[in-house]
Amino acid sequence: MWLSPFYPSPQADAGYDVADYRDVDPIFGRLADADELIAQAHARGLRVIVDLVPNHTSSAHPWFVEALAAPAGDPARNRYIFRDGRGPDGAEPPNTWRSVFGGPAWTRVPDPDGRPGQWYLHLFDVGQPDLNWDLPEVRAEFEDILRFWLDRGVDGFRVDVAHGLVKQADLADWHYPEEPLSGGGRTGPRPPMWDQDGVHAIYRDWRRLVDSYPGDRILVAEAWVQPAERLAAYVRPDEMHQAFNFEYLLAAWTAPAQYAVITRSLEATDAVGAPTTWVLSNHDVVRHASRLGLPPGTPRPNGIGVGDPQPDTAVGLRRARAATLLMLSLPGSAYLYQGEELGLPEHTTMDDDARQDPTWKRSDGAERGRDGCRVPIPWEADAPSYGFGPTDASWLPQPALWAEYALDRQRGVAGATYELYRAALMLRREHGLGRGALSWVDTADDVLAFRNGDLLVVTNFGAESVGLPAGAQPLLSSGPLDSDGRVPTDVTVWARA
Ligand code: NOJ
Repeated sequence: MWLSPFYPSPQADAGYDVADYRDVDPIFGRLADADELIAQAHARGLRVIVDLVPNHTSSAHPWFVEALAAPAGDPARNRYIFRDGRGPDGAEPPNTWRSVFGGPAWTRVPDPDGRPGQWYLHLFDVGQPDLNWDLPEVRAEFEDILRFWLDRGVDGFRVDVAHGLVKQADLADWHYPEEPLSGGGRTGPRPPMWDQDGVHAIYRDWRRLVDSYPGDRILVAEAWVQPAERLAAYVRPDEMHQAFNFEYLLAAWTAPAQYAVITRSLEATDAVGAPTTWVLSNHDVVRHASRLGLPPGTPRPNGIGVGDPQPDTAVGLRRARAATLLMLSLPGSAYLYQGEELGLPEHTTMDDDARQDPTWKRSDGAERGRDGCRVPIPWEADAPSYGFGPTDASWLPQPALWAEYALDRQRGVAGATYELYRAALMLRREHGLGRGALSWVDTADDVLAFRNGDLLVVTNFGAESVGLPAGAQPLLSSGPLDSDGRVPTDVTVWARA
Protein backbone atom coordinates (compact mmCIF):
# COMPACT_ATOMS: atom_id res chain seq x y z
CA MET A 1 0.00 0.00 0.00
CA TRP A 2 1.58 3.25 -1.14
CA LEU A 3 0.23 6.37 0.55
CA SER A 4 0.68 9.74 -1.09
CA PRO A 5 1.98 12.47 1.26
CA PHE A 6 -0.03 12.87 4.47
CA TYR A 7 2.38 15.24 6.25
CA PRO A 8 1.49 18.74 7.51
CA SER A 9 1.21 20.87 4.41
CA PRO A 10 -0.49 24.00 3.08
CA GLN A 11 -1.72 21.66 0.28
CA ALA A 12 -0.41 23.85 -2.53
CA ASP A 13 0.17 20.60 -4.44
CA ALA A 14 -1.97 17.95 -2.74
CA GLY A 15 0.55 17.42 0.03
CA TYR A 16 3.66 17.30 -2.20
CA ASP A 17 4.57 20.53 -0.42
CA VAL A 18 5.70 19.25 2.96
CA ALA A 19 6.02 21.61 5.91
CA ASP A 20 7.00 18.94 8.46
CA TYR A 21 8.35 15.56 7.37
CA ARG A 22 7.85 13.96 10.78
CA ASP A 23 4.15 14.44 11.45
CA VAL A 24 0.66 13.94 10.02
CA ASP A 25 -1.53 16.76 8.74
CA PRO A 26 -4.56 17.25 11.00
CA ILE A 27 -6.87 16.92 7.97
CA PHE A 28 -5.85 13.24 7.88
CA GLY A 29 -5.27 12.46 11.55
CA ARG A 30 -2.34 12.34 13.91
CA LEU A 31 0.97 10.55 14.10
CA ALA A 32 -0.67 7.91 16.29
CA ASP A 33 -3.10 7.18 13.44
CA ALA A 34 -0.19 6.56 11.09
CA ASP A 35 1.29 4.15 13.62
CA GLU A 36 -2.01 2.37 13.94
CA LEU A 37 -2.51 2.18 10.19
CA ILE A 38 0.93 0.61 9.77
CA ALA A 39 0.23 -1.88 12.56
CA GLN A 40 -3.21 -2.79 11.20
CA ALA A 41 -1.82 -3.23 7.69
CA HIS A 42 0.96 -5.46 8.98
CA ALA A 43 -1.55 -7.53 10.94
CA ARG A 44 -3.30 -8.22 7.62
CA GLY A 45 -0.12 -9.14 5.78
CA LEU A 46 0.01 -5.84 3.89
CA ARG A 47 3.06 -3.64 3.69
CA VAL A 48 3.12 0.13 3.67
CA ILE A 49 5.20 2.48 1.53
CA VAL A 50 5.16 6.19 2.35
CA ASP A 51 5.85 9.01 -0.07
CA LEU A 52 9.12 10.86 0.44
CA VAL A 53 9.39 14.32 -1.12
CA PRO A 54 13.08 15.25 -1.18
CA ASN A 55 13.33 17.56 -4.20
CA HIS A 56 11.54 20.43 -2.51
CA THR A 57 9.91 21.41 0.75
CA SER A 58 6.84 23.55 1.27
CA SER A 59 7.45 27.29 1.41
CA ALA A 60 5.93 26.94 4.91
CA HIS A 61 8.77 24.64 6.02
CA PRO A 62 10.78 26.26 8.87
CA TRP A 63 13.94 26.12 6.73
CA PHE A 64 12.37 28.20 4.00
CA VAL A 65 10.80 30.64 6.45
CA GLU A 66 14.28 31.09 7.94
CA ALA A 67 15.80 31.50 4.47
CA LEU A 68 13.37 34.28 3.57
CA ALA A 69 14.08 36.14 6.79
CA ALA A 70 17.84 35.93 6.15
CA PRO A 71 19.80 38.27 3.88
CA ALA A 72 21.31 37.13 0.56
CA GLY A 73 24.45 35.07 1.16
CA ASP A 74 23.33 33.87 4.59
CA PRO A 75 23.87 30.12 5.17
CA ALA A 76 20.12 29.75 5.82
CA ARG A 77 19.55 30.53 2.14
CA ASN A 78 22.04 27.94 1.00
CA ARG A 79 19.64 25.10 1.87
CA TYR A 80 17.67 26.18 -1.19
CA ILE A 81 18.67 27.54 -4.60
CA PHE A 82 18.69 31.33 -4.38
CA ARG A 83 20.32 33.39 -7.13
CA ASP A 84 20.55 37.03 -8.18
CA GLY A 85 18.36 37.91 -11.14
CA ARG A 86 19.61 38.92 -14.57
CA GLY A 87 19.45 42.40 -16.06
CA PRO A 88 20.47 45.74 -14.58
CA ASP A 89 18.12 45.55 -11.58
CA GLY A 90 18.18 41.79 -11.30
CA ALA A 91 14.57 41.93 -12.41
CA GLU A 92 14.84 38.99 -14.83
CA PRO A 93 14.91 35.37 -13.62
CA PRO A 94 18.40 33.83 -13.25
CA ASN A 95 17.82 31.40 -16.15
CA THR A 96 15.22 30.19 -18.64
CA TRP A 97 13.92 27.23 -16.63
CA ARG A 98 10.17 26.70 -16.44
CA SER A 99 8.02 25.16 -13.77
CA VAL A 100 6.57 21.75 -14.65
CA PHE A 101 3.19 23.28 -13.78
CA GLY A 102 3.68 26.25 -16.17
CA GLY A 103 5.27 29.69 -15.85
CA PRO A 104 8.81 30.48 -14.73
CA ALA A 105 10.64 28.17 -12.31
CA TRP A 106 11.88 31.21 -10.34
CA THR A 107 10.15 33.62 -7.98
CA ARG A 108 11.67 36.85 -6.70
CA VAL A 109 11.46 37.59 -2.99
CA PRO A 110 12.00 40.83 -1.06
CA ASP A 111 15.14 41.22 0.99
CA PRO A 112 14.59 41.40 4.75
CA ASP A 113 14.72 45.22 4.35
CA GLY A 114 11.78 45.06 1.93
CA ARG A 115 13.65 45.88 -1.29
CA PRO A 116 13.35 43.49 -4.29
CA GLY A 117 15.91 40.78 -3.70
CA GLN A 118 17.00 37.38 -4.98
CA TRP A 119 15.09 34.69 -6.80
CA TYR A 120 14.54 31.09 -5.66
CA LEU A 121 14.14 28.02 -7.83
CA HIS A 122 10.94 25.95 -7.82
CA LEU A 123 10.67 23.33 -10.54
CA PHE A 124 7.06 22.89 -9.42
CA ASP A 125 4.75 25.36 -7.64
CA VAL A 126 5.97 28.60 -5.99
CA GLY A 127 5.04 26.87 -2.73
CA GLN A 128 7.63 24.13 -3.44
CA PRO A 129 11.15 25.63 -3.26
CA ASP A 130 13.85 23.23 -4.51
CA LEU A 131 16.38 22.09 -1.95
CA ASN A 132 20.14 22.35 -2.46
CA TRP A 133 21.32 18.75 -2.46
CA ASP A 134 24.98 19.83 -2.63
CA LEU A 135 24.68 20.69 1.03
CA PRO A 136 25.63 17.90 3.46
CA GLU A 137 23.07 19.24 5.95
CA VAL A 138 20.25 18.54 3.47
CA ARG A 139 21.51 14.99 2.91
CA ALA A 140 21.82 14.37 6.65
CA GLU A 141 18.32 15.71 7.28
CA PHE A 142 16.74 13.31 4.79
CA GLU A 143 18.64 10.34 6.14
CA ASP A 144 17.20 11.26 9.50
CA ILE A 145 13.69 11.46 7.99
CA LEU A 146 14.15 8.01 6.44
CA ARG A 147 15.13 6.66 9.85
CA PHE A 148 12.18 8.37 11.51
CA TRP A 149 9.70 6.46 9.34
CA LEU A 150 11.65 3.20 9.24
CA ASP A 151 11.71 3.28 13.04
CA ARG A 152 7.91 3.62 12.94
CA GLY A 153 7.73 0.44 10.89
CA VAL A 154 7.16 1.54 7.30
CA ASP A 155 8.29 -0.93 4.67
CA GLY A 156 9.72 1.60 2.29
CA PHE A 157 9.49 4.81 0.34
CA ARG A 158 8.19 6.02 -2.97
CA VAL A 159 10.72 8.71 -3.84
CA ASP A 160 9.11 11.75 -5.44
CA VAL A 161 10.92 13.41 -8.39
CA ALA A 162 13.86 11.08 -7.89
CA HIS A 163 15.47 12.39 -11.09
CA GLY A 164 15.43 16.03 -10.00
CA LEU A 165 17.44 16.40 -6.80
CA VAL A 166 20.76 17.33 -8.38
CA LYS A 167 20.94 20.15 -10.92
CA GLN A 168 23.72 20.82 -13.40
CA ALA A 169 26.11 23.01 -11.39
CA ASP A 170 26.06 25.99 -13.77
CA LEU A 171 22.23 26.08 -13.94
CA ALA A 172 22.67 26.55 -17.67
CA ASP A 173 19.79 27.94 -19.72
CA TRP A 174 17.52 25.38 -21.32
CA HIS A 175 15.66 26.07 -24.50
CA TYR A 176 12.11 24.78 -24.60
CA PRO A 177 10.24 23.04 -26.05
CA GLU A 178 12.71 20.85 -27.91
CA GLU A 179 12.65 18.42 -25.01
CA PRO A 180 9.81 17.37 -22.72
CA LEU A 181 9.57 19.22 -19.42
CA SER A 182 10.25 16.23 -17.26
CA GLY A 183 12.67 13.48 -17.97
CA GLY A 184 15.65 13.22 -20.22
CA GLY A 185 14.98 13.20 -23.91
CA ARG A 186 15.32 10.00 -25.85
CA THR A 187 17.92 11.69 -28.00
CA GLY A 188 19.87 14.90 -27.74
CA PRO A 189 21.27 16.55 -24.65
CA ARG A 190 19.82 15.98 -21.22
CA PRO A 191 18.07 18.95 -19.60
CA PRO A 192 20.23 20.49 -16.86
CA MET A 193 17.54 20.03 -14.22
CA TRP A 194 16.76 16.32 -14.71
CA ASP A 195 18.52 12.97 -14.44
CA GLN A 196 21.96 14.31 -13.55
CA ASP A 197 24.49 11.60 -12.72
CA GLY A 198 24.97 13.07 -9.23
CA VAL A 199 21.61 11.75 -8.00
CA HIS A 200 22.87 8.18 -7.88
CA ALA A 201 25.25 8.73 -4.97
CA ILE A 202 22.26 9.81 -2.87
CA TYR A 203 20.39 6.60 -3.60
CA ARG A 204 23.42 4.48 -2.85
CA ASP A 205 23.57 6.12 0.59
CA TRP A 206 19.86 5.50 1.11
CA ARG A 207 20.17 1.88 0.02
CA ARG A 208 22.84 1.31 2.64
CA LEU A 209 20.59 2.96 5.20
CA VAL A 210 17.45 0.93 4.42
CA ASP A 211 19.51 -2.27 4.19
CA SER A 212 20.68 -1.68 7.75
CA TYR A 213 17.08 -2.31 8.90
CA PRO A 214 15.84 -5.86 9.37
CA GLY A 215 13.34 -7.41 6.96
CA ASP A 216 12.49 -6.33 3.44
CA ARG A 217 12.39 -2.60 2.75
CA ILE A 218 11.87 -0.98 -0.60
CA LEU A 219 12.83 2.22 -2.39
CA VAL A 220 10.75 3.03 -5.47
CA ALA A 221 11.81 5.80 -7.83
CA GLU A 222 9.38 8.20 -9.40
CA ALA A 223 11.64 9.28 -12.23
CA TRP A 224 10.33 10.48 -15.60
CA VAL A 225 13.46 9.37 -17.37
CA GLN A 226 13.96 7.96 -20.82
CA PRO A 227 15.26 5.85 -22.44
CA ALA A 228 14.67 2.70 -20.37
CA GLU A 229 18.43 2.22 -19.91
CA ARG A 230 18.77 5.60 -18.14
CA LEU A 231 15.85 4.65 -15.89
CA ALA A 232 17.41 1.27 -15.17
CA ALA A 233 20.41 3.06 -13.66
CA TYR A 234 18.17 3.99 -10.71
CA VAL A 235 17.64 0.31 -9.91
CA ARG A 236 21.19 -0.95 -10.11
CA PRO A 237 21.92 -3.48 -7.35
CA ASP A 238 23.18 -0.86 -4.88
CA GLU A 239 20.50 1.78 -5.58
CA MET A 240 16.72 1.64 -5.46
CA HIS A 241 14.71 -1.56 -5.77
CA GLN A 242 12.15 -0.48 -8.35
CA ALA A 243 11.25 2.47 -10.58
CA PHE A 244 7.84 3.26 -12.05
CA ASN A 245 7.71 2.38 -15.73
CA PHE A 246 6.07 5.45 -17.25
CA GLU A 247 7.08 4.48 -20.76
CA TYR A 248 4.65 1.58 -20.35
CA LEU A 249 1.90 3.90 -19.12
CA LEU A 250 2.44 6.18 -22.11
CA ALA A 251 2.49 3.44 -24.76
CA ALA A 252 -0.24 3.43 -27.39
CA TRP A 253 -2.93 0.73 -27.34
CA THR A 254 -1.68 -1.21 -30.36
CA ALA A 255 -0.03 -4.60 -30.56
CA PRO A 256 3.31 -3.29 -31.96
CA ALA A 257 3.55 -0.48 -29.38
CA GLN A 258 2.74 -2.79 -26.48
CA TYR A 259 5.12 -5.48 -27.74
CA ALA A 260 7.92 -2.94 -28.09
CA VAL A 261 7.51 -1.37 -24.67
CA ILE A 262 7.17 -4.70 -22.86
CA THR A 263 10.27 -6.10 -24.56
CA ARG A 264 12.31 -2.96 -24.02
CA SER A 265 11.30 -2.69 -20.36
CA LEU A 266 12.19 -6.28 -19.58
CA GLU A 267 15.55 -6.00 -21.34
CA ALA A 268 16.50 -2.79 -19.55
CA THR A 269 15.78 -4.04 -16.04
CA ASP A 270 17.10 -7.56 -16.73
CA ALA A 271 20.41 -5.91 -17.60
CA VAL A 272 20.72 -4.61 -14.03
CA GLY A 273 18.99 -7.55 -12.31
CA ALA A 274 15.98 -5.57 -11.06
CA PRO A 275 12.30 -6.42 -11.37
CA THR A 276 10.43 -4.62 -14.14
CA THR A 277 7.39 -2.62 -13.06
CA TRP A 278 4.12 -1.84 -14.78
CA VAL A 279 1.62 0.94 -14.20
CA LEU A 280 -1.42 2.20 -16.11
CA SER A 281 -2.88 4.85 -13.81
CA ASN A 282 -1.80 7.07 -10.94
CA HIS A 283 -2.69 10.42 -9.36
CA ASP A 284 -0.81 12.37 -12.08
CA VAL A 285 -2.38 11.05 -15.28
CA VAL A 286 -5.81 10.65 -16.88
CA ARG A 287 -7.27 7.37 -15.61
CA HIS A 288 -6.72 4.59 -18.13
CA ALA A 289 -10.45 3.81 -18.36
CA SER A 290 -10.81 7.25 -19.96
CA ARG A 291 -7.42 7.66 -21.62
CA LEU A 292 -7.89 4.53 -23.70
CA GLY A 293 -11.33 5.70 -24.84
CA LEU A 294 -10.23 9.03 -26.30
CA PRO A 295 -10.97 9.58 -29.99
CA PRO A 296 -8.10 8.28 -32.17
CA GLY A 297 -5.41 10.90 -32.70
CA THR A 298 -6.22 12.92 -29.54
CA PRO A 299 -2.89 14.04 -28.05
CA ARG A 300 -2.38 12.70 -24.52
CA PRO A 301 -4.11 15.31 -22.37
CA ASN A 302 -3.10 16.60 -18.94
CA GLY A 303 -6.65 16.48 -17.61
CA ILE A 304 -9.93 16.67 -19.50
CA GLY A 305 -12.67 19.28 -19.06
CA VAL A 306 -15.84 20.64 -20.64
CA GLY A 307 -15.13 21.52 -24.28
CA ASP A 308 -12.28 19.00 -24.62
CA PRO A 309 -12.61 15.84 -26.73
CA GLN A 310 -14.52 13.43 -24.48
CA PRO A 311 -13.66 9.75 -24.12
CA ASP A 312 -16.00 6.95 -25.21
CA THR A 313 -16.80 5.42 -21.82
CA ALA A 314 -17.62 1.95 -23.13
CA VAL A 315 -14.55 1.66 -25.37
CA GLY A 316 -12.36 3.07 -22.58
CA LEU A 317 -13.57 0.58 -19.99
CA ARG A 318 -13.32 -2.35 -22.36
CA ARG A 319 -9.73 -1.48 -23.24
CA ALA A 320 -8.86 -0.64 -19.64
CA ARG A 321 -9.97 -4.09 -18.52
CA ALA A 322 -7.99 -5.71 -21.33
CA ALA A 323 -4.94 -3.58 -20.54
CA THR A 324 -5.12 -4.43 -16.84
CA LEU A 325 -5.38 -8.15 -17.50
CA LEU A 326 -2.41 -7.90 -19.86
CA MET A 327 -0.43 -5.93 -17.26
CA LEU A 328 -1.22 -8.32 -14.41
CA SER A 329 0.08 -11.26 -16.42
CA LEU A 330 3.51 -9.72 -16.98
CA PRO A 331 6.54 -10.71 -14.92
CA GLY A 332 7.45 -7.93 -12.48
CA SER A 333 5.57 -5.68 -10.07
CA ALA A 334 2.30 -4.02 -11.01
CA TYR A 335 1.12 -0.78 -9.40
CA LEU A 336 -2.63 -0.18 -9.21
CA TYR A 337 -4.23 3.19 -8.49
CA GLN A 338 -7.23 3.38 -6.15
CA GLY A 339 -10.47 3.35 -8.11
CA GLU A 340 -9.16 1.56 -11.18
CA GLU A 341 -10.45 -1.69 -9.65
CA LEU A 342 -13.92 -0.16 -9.99
CA GLY A 343 -13.33 0.69 -13.66
CA LEU A 344 -13.65 4.30 -12.58
CA PRO A 345 -13.34 6.88 -15.36
CA GLU A 346 -11.72 10.30 -15.08
CA HIS A 347 -14.05 13.12 -14.02
CA THR A 348 -13.99 14.80 -17.43
CA THR A 349 -16.60 17.52 -16.89
CA MET A 350 -15.48 19.03 -13.60
CA ASP A 351 -16.38 22.65 -13.00
CA ASP A 352 -13.14 24.54 -13.58
CA ASP A 353 -13.80 26.63 -10.45
CA ALA A 354 -13.46 23.46 -8.37
CA ARG A 355 -9.98 22.65 -9.66
CA GLN A 356 -7.13 22.57 -7.14
CA ASP A 357 -4.16 21.37 -9.19
CA PRO A 358 -1.72 24.31 -9.45
CA THR A 359 -1.26 23.34 -13.12
CA TRP A 360 -4.66 24.81 -14.05
CA LYS A 361 -3.77 28.34 -12.86
CA ARG A 362 -0.07 28.29 -13.63
CA SER A 363 -0.73 27.24 -17.23
CA ASP A 364 -3.39 29.99 -17.56
CA GLY A 365 -6.00 27.34 -18.21
CA ALA A 366 -4.01 25.72 -21.04
CA GLU A 367 -3.90 22.46 -19.09
CA ARG A 368 -6.77 21.23 -16.93
CA GLY A 369 -4.41 19.31 -14.65
CA ARG A 370 -4.83 16.25 -12.51
CA ASP A 371 -7.92 16.83 -10.39
CA GLY A 372 -10.08 14.60 -12.60
CA CYS A 373 -8.23 11.46 -11.51
CA ARG A 374 -8.14 12.46 -7.83
CA VAL A 375 -11.85 12.65 -7.07
CA PRO A 376 -12.75 10.49 -4.03
CA ILE A 377 -13.89 7.06 -5.17
CA PRO A 378 -17.47 5.78 -4.69
CA TRP A 379 -17.83 3.18 -1.95
CA GLU A 380 -21.61 3.18 -1.47
CA ALA A 381 -24.04 4.11 -4.23
CA ASP A 382 -26.65 5.66 -1.96
CA ALA A 383 -24.58 7.27 0.80
CA PRO A 384 -23.61 10.96 1.03
CA SER A 385 -20.45 11.56 -1.05
CA TYR A 386 -20.79 7.88 -2.03
CA GLY A 387 -19.44 6.89 1.37
CA PHE A 388 -16.32 9.10 1.27
CA GLY A 389 -17.44 11.06 4.34
CA PRO A 390 -20.49 11.82 6.45
CA THR A 391 -21.72 14.64 4.19
CA ASP A 392 -21.87 15.40 0.49
CA ALA A 393 -18.81 17.59 0.82
CA SER A 394 -15.80 15.93 -0.73
CA TRP A 395 -12.57 17.72 -1.47
CA LEU A 396 -13.18 17.46 -5.21
CA PRO A 397 -16.75 17.18 -6.58
CA GLN A 398 -17.93 13.70 -7.54
CA PRO A 399 -19.85 13.24 -10.82
CA ALA A 400 -23.52 12.38 -10.58
CA LEU A 401 -23.10 9.20 -12.59
CA TRP A 402 -20.67 7.52 -10.25
CA ALA A 403 -23.26 5.53 -8.26
CA GLU A 404 -23.06 2.78 -10.87
CA TYR A 405 -19.33 2.34 -10.16
CA ALA A 406 -19.74 2.14 -6.37
CA LEU A 407 -18.08 -0.78 -4.64
CA ASP A 408 -21.36 -1.95 -3.12
CA ARG A 409 -22.88 -2.22 -6.60
CA GLN A 410 -19.96 -4.38 -7.81
CA ARG A 411 -19.08 -6.66 -4.92
CA GLY A 412 -20.16 -10.21 -5.72
CA VAL A 413 -21.53 -9.24 -9.13
CA ALA A 414 -20.31 -11.53 -11.90
CA GLY A 415 -18.54 -9.59 -14.62
CA ALA A 416 -18.03 -6.45 -12.48
CA THR A 417 -14.64 -4.80 -12.86
CA TYR A 418 -14.02 -5.14 -9.14
CA GLU A 419 -14.54 -8.91 -9.35
CA LEU A 420 -12.30 -9.07 -12.43
CA TYR A 421 -9.47 -7.44 -10.45
CA ARG A 422 -9.98 -9.81 -7.51
CA ALA A 423 -9.98 -12.89 -9.73
CA ALA A 424 -6.94 -11.65 -11.66
CA LEU A 425 -4.94 -10.89 -8.52
CA MET A 426 -5.76 -14.28 -7.06
CA LEU A 427 -4.74 -16.14 -10.23
CA ARG A 428 -1.64 -13.97 -10.59
CA ARG A 429 -0.52 -15.08 -7.16
CA GLU A 430 -1.55 -18.70 -7.64
CA HIS A 431 0.36 -18.98 -10.93
CA GLY A 432 3.33 -16.89 -9.83
CA LEU A 433 2.90 -14.58 -12.82
CA GLY A 434 4.75 -11.65 -11.22
CA ARG A 435 7.80 -13.83 -10.67
CA GLY A 436 7.59 -15.68 -13.94
CA ALA A 437 9.19 -15.20 -17.33
CA LEU A 438 7.59 -14.43 -20.61
CA SER A 439 7.93 -16.24 -23.91
CA TRP A 440 6.23 -14.77 -26.95
CA VAL A 441 3.99 -16.84 -29.19
CA ASP A 442 3.72 -16.04 -32.90
CA THR A 443 0.39 -14.48 -33.84
CA ALA A 444 -1.35 -12.23 -36.32
CA ASP A 445 -0.16 -8.59 -36.38
CA ASP A 446 -3.03 -7.26 -34.27
CA VAL A 447 -2.66 -9.82 -31.53
CA LEU A 448 -0.18 -10.29 -28.68
CA ALA A 449 0.27 -13.71 -27.14
CA PHE A 450 2.81 -15.12 -24.71
CA ARG A 451 3.28 -17.82 -22.15
CA ASN A 452 4.10 -17.09 -18.54
CA GLY A 453 4.47 -20.32 -16.55
CA ASP A 454 1.52 -22.57 -17.27
CA LEU A 455 -0.65 -19.74 -18.59
CA LEU A 456 -1.17 -18.50 -22.10
CA VAL A 457 -2.09 -14.81 -22.39
CA VAL A 458 -3.76 -13.44 -25.52
CA THR A 459 -4.77 -9.83 -26.19
CA ASN A 460 -6.66 -8.98 -29.34
CA PHE A 461 -6.07 -5.38 -30.49
CA GLY A 462 -7.62 -5.97 -33.91
CA ALA A 463 -11.16 -5.42 -35.15
CA GLU A 464 -11.84 -9.12 -35.93
CA SER A 465 -12.21 -11.85 -33.31
CA VAL A 466 -9.38 -14.39 -33.13
CA GLY A 467 -9.36 -18.03 -32.11
CA LEU A 468 -7.35 -19.49 -29.21
CA PRO A 469 -4.90 -22.29 -30.01
CA ALA A 470 -6.46 -25.76 -29.90
CA GLY A 471 -6.62 -27.13 -26.37
CA ALA A 472 -6.26 -23.77 -24.59
CA GLN A 473 -8.81 -23.52 -21.77
CA PRO A 474 -9.83 -19.98 -20.84
CA LEU A 475 -9.55 -19.22 -17.10
CA LEU A 476 -10.34 -15.53 -17.08
CA SER A 477 -11.10 -12.93 -19.70
CA SER A 478 -11.47 -9.17 -19.54
CA GLY A 479 -14.77 -9.33 -21.45
CA PRO A 480 -17.13 -12.00 -22.76
CA LEU A 481 -15.76 -14.31 -25.46
CA ASP A 482 -17.76 -14.91 -28.62
CA SER A 483 -20.23 -17.79 -28.47
CA ASP A 484 -17.76 -19.93 -30.43
CA GLY A 485 -15.00 -19.17 -27.92
CA ARG A 486 -13.15 -16.67 -30.09
CA VAL A 487 -11.53 -13.57 -28.53
CA PRO A 488 -13.22 -10.33 -29.62
CA THR A 489 -11.60 -6.95 -30.13
CA ASP A 490 -9.97 -5.30 -27.08
CA VAL A 491 -10.17 -8.40 -24.91
CA THR A 492 -7.41 -10.20 -22.98
CA VAL A 493 -7.73 -13.88 -22.08
CA TRP A 494 -5.77 -15.97 -19.63
CA ALA A 495 -5.92 -19.61 -20.60
CA ARG A 496 -4.36 -22.82 -19.42
CA ALA A 497 -1.84 -23.54 -22.12
C1 NOJ B 1 5.30 13.92 -8.57
C2 NOJ B 1 4.01 13.70 -7.86
O1 NOJ B 1 3.50 12.43 -8.22
C3 NOJ B 1 3.13 14.84 -8.25
O2 NOJ B 1 1.80 14.62 -7.84
C4 NOJ B 1 3.70 16.11 -7.70
O3 NOJ B 1 2.94 17.21 -8.16
C5 NOJ B 1 5.14 16.32 -8.15
N1 NOJ B 1 5.92 15.11 -8.07
C6 NOJ B 1 5.83 17.37 -7.33
O4 NOJ B 1 6.09 16.91 -6.04
